[in-house]
Order: sequence, then C-alpha cells, then structure tokens
Amino acid sequence: MVSPYLKEMNGKKVLIVNEKPFLILAGEVHNSSSSSSEYMSGVWEKADNLGMNSVLLPVTWENIEPAEGAFDFSLVDQLITQAREYNKKIVLLWFGSWKNAQCYYAPSWVKRNTSRFKRAEVKKGQNFTKLEDFYEMPYTTLSYLCEETRQADARAFKELMKHIKEYDAEENTVIMVQVENEPGLQGAARENSDEADELFQSEVPADFVAFMKNNTASMAEDVKQAIKHGANEGNWTEVFGEVAAEIFSSYHVATYINTVAAAGKKEYALPLSVNCWLDKGQKPGMYPSGGPVSRMMEVWKFCADEIDVIAPDIYVPNFLDVCDEYIKLGNPLFIPETVTHAYAGPRQVYVVGHYHALGYAPFGFEDMGEEFSAIDSYLFGVETTDPLFKEPQDVQEYQWITRTLNELSPLLAHKYGTTDLQAVSCERKDQDSMVFGEYGIKVMMDSHMNSRRDGVCLALKIAEDEFYVLVNGCIIHPLSLDQKNPYVGVLSLEEGRFEAGNWKMHRRLNGDEVAIMRYEKPTLLRMKLYSYK
Ligand code: DGJ
Repeated sequence: MVSPYLKEMNGKKVLIVNEKPFLILAGEVHNSSSSSSEYMSGVWEKADNLGMNSVLLPVTWENIEPAEGAFDFSLVDQLITQAREYNKKIVLLWFGSWKNAQCYYAPSWVKRNTSRFKRAEVKKGQNFTKLEDFYEMPYTTLSYLCEETRQADARAFKELMKHIKEYDAEENTVIMVQVENEPGLQGAARENSDEADELFQSEVPADFVAFMKNNTASMAEDVKQAIKHGANEGNWTEVFGEVAAEIFSSYHVATYINTVAAAGKKEYALPLSVNCWLDKGQKPGMYPSGGPVSRMMEVWKFCADEIDVIAPDIYVPNFLDVCDEYIKLGNPLFIPETVTHAYAGPRQVYVVGHYHALGYAPFGFEDMGEEFSAIDSYLFGVETTDPLFKEPQDVQEYQWITRTLNELSPLLAHKYGTTDLQAVSCERKDQDSMVFGEYGIKVMMDSHMNSRRDGVCLALKIAEDEFYVLVNGCIIHPLSLDQKNPYVGVLSLEEGRFEAGNWKMHRRLNGDEVAIMRYEKPTLLRMKLYSYK
C-alpha cells in the first residue's frame, strides 16, 4: 500500500490516502485522553457521533521510551487498533521535547539528568524561572541548543515511525504526524546561557542570511524592515537588528525539529506538521519564541524542509485573519486545534470551501456541546461582545456538517485549487457573493427574515449552470453575469444528501421554497439555473 502523501492539485496540496484525496474532518482529544485505551473507547464513540473521519491524538516520549533505549509501543498499537474498529484515521501528535513550550512529556531519565539534557536558561545560570508576564507560572524547558537531547528525541521519534510503518503501512490508519507541540521558549526571546550568548555573538551562516535577504516579500513588516536594514554579514544583531533574538530562537528550534523529523521520515515518509501557539502582537517570549508563527515562517521554510505543514492553533476571535496568514509560501492550511463554540461548524465549512484546507479539528471535541468553564471561556475569547462565542456548538448540526462534507469530499477535493469551489462566511460580511463564470450566488446573512447569525454557504460548481450548495443561516439569490441574458431563474432545486457517492433527493423545492431561498438549518441543495432576457 502506498503511504499517505501530499499531492499538488491545481496548485493546492491535497492529502492522498489509499490513493484517494482525503479531507481531515477531525477533532483533537484532550491531552490525557489517549494515555489510556480504556478511556479512549468513549472518545472514539464521540468522534463517530460528530461524523469525524479522523482523530488527532498524542503519543508521548515518556510513554514509548520509559527507560533509555527500551521501547514500548503497546499503547500505540491499541490506539491504532481502536481507530480501525471505528473506521477512523489518526493524526498522531509527537509530544517529545516540547509540549506548549515546556517539557512535560520528556521521560524521567531525560528530566532528571539536567547535566546531560540541558535546560534552557531563560535567565543566565538558571534552569527554572517564573513567568512574570504569565501569571507567575513556574517554567522550565529543554534547551534548543542541546545536541544530546536533540539526538535522543530523534532516536525515539525514529523508533516510533519505524514501528508505525511495521504495524500500519498495510492499512494507513496513521495519515500524518505532528512533530512536537507548540515548540519554543517562554520568558525571553532567546536562551541566555553562556553558550547561547557566544552563538548569538558569532557569525550568522551566510546561506541563511542570503535566503532571508532574498525572501523578504512575504515577511511581516517589522521582520522585513529589520532584515532590509541589517548588515549582509556579521553576528545575529548586526544582521537581524530588532528581531535578531526571535530569529535566533526560530533558527535553532526549527533546525532541532528538522533533525527529529528527518530521523522519522527516513523510516516512514508520512506527511509531517508542526503547530504553533499564535503570537498576538505581543513580544516573543510571551508566546513561545522560536515557534513556527507566521512571522517566522520564512525561517522555518529554510531550516525545516522535512516539515510539510505549518499549522496554527486558533483560539482567538479573528479566526479568518489567522487563516490568511498561514497560507503564505504555499503552506497548506491545516487547523489542528480550535474552539468548540458556535462558530466551530460554520468555520469547518468555510475552511474547506474557501481555503481548500487539508483539515480542521476542534480541540477537546469530547466536550463539544457542553457549557464552557472559566478557563475555556478565557481560551475561546468570550470576552468579545459576540454572544456566539459564549454558545456551545450544536452537536447535531456539527454531526450533519461533518458527515455532509465527508460524503461530498471526493467532489470537493477534485475542485481544490479551482474557483469552482467557493464559500462565504458570516465572519467576513464584505465578501457576500460567489462568482462562477456566467452565474453567481449572492448570500444575505443579516436579513430580518433570517434569525441566525452564524451563516455560512459553500458552493461547488458541477456544470456551467449547476451547483451543490451547503448552506445554513442564509438567504441566497442566484445571479446571472451574462450581459446578453441578464435575468436568472431556478430550473430545479432539490434538497438531499449523498449516499455511497450518489445524490439522493429528499424533496424537490420548486414552489414557495424557491421564491425565498432561506435556510435556517444546515441544508444541502442541488440547484440548476438558467438565464434569459
Ligand atoms: C494548546 C495545546 O497545543 C494543547 O495541547 C492544549 O494544551 C491546549 N492549548 C489547551 O487549550
């Protein structure tokens, strides 16, 4: 069996599994769920109830290598076996040296031996600090400069990938692997050990300087200006000015993770991703400095060519602005973590329809539909005035959306990278129309005739005059863009679903329902238009 891989189709990357395009319509489990296969049985059920085809779950370094060189893959095997029983795919999350910029999941033999496996010195000479800007949180993490740790992590990841190949290559249950989790350094923009100081004062590698100087077009404005005004050679400050410390951290974190990724990929060449804790305009160190945030993406592209996908964990309200930042440099959009509030469903539709994303996964999906705790509320940005941020996603609707996208996925993936697949969202009201050659669809979301405020509409053109439309919370109007035939009519409107790849009509809607095309619950339509004068 050919292992899963990314294929470029019409300029977009599509994940191919068992020789077919596969959209990852998934959820990420809470961190501790996959530490027990017994606990996971209920979680697979929930994924199934939400219509998901895949689950993102952690496998930890401490679990697979409890003593150095002694590997135990029994839990990994149980998780893969369970996924098969539930007909689910797995995106495996390698919790190795980094988990949320700390080292929670390093094995005890790594944690205890701080002279061999060095800690990052946020403050000179200290292996521990309290994050002043972050609720005085106790903080320690492994050093990104420590070669011993890098090699130990790479050996463990290599064994893991080798094992997955042996156990799973015939079935392709594991379809992608995230290397580490939200890596980087908190508390400072760079490490401050003597070794770090010395490296920071030494010459920046010439090929890296040349790459950065030649690739400023896509960079964030402050990074671009610092690089344009920096020297052509010299130490990190001379070359990169104000952003030197963050670039230094990114260079070393990305190079480290690339070593780990390469060791695994050599054994089993699955697509590999990294995820990031977003920068929200703060200074590096408030968010993990050196992590693969969009402002450091050029550095990551240079240093980490084994990584196929840079993925944002999006908990902020302006979800779509973040998506826009992570599609530069041909990066395929993949959302491994996001919120479970009332925009979770509409956003899933929009990332597929508009961004042609590889996949989408709300975090802690096990709790979808439940009221939010105080910490969830903080994470999900409920302090905004929008009441939908406080409202849990309706589970039945989420299930419908995920199942429908799944059933449509062969058709959708085929149109990735083309203008035949488009979407509009209530979160982007300035873009309210979709144009497909001689026809278009105008979408209204704020009408007094429509009680919902979470509208989304995805349209897939299947012939010049025919479309599948997945719609909710909208009123839609077909348009003619043919100047010779400016009027448009609906020849047929059907409501239905897909079954085993075939359209199954429930009702034909050519009466009142076509007079005002208003949708107050998720609906899949097949619509044929005509134009006249
Ligand atoms: C982001 C991390 O990547 C996850 O593992 C988890 O800790 C969530 N934050 C919690 O919200």
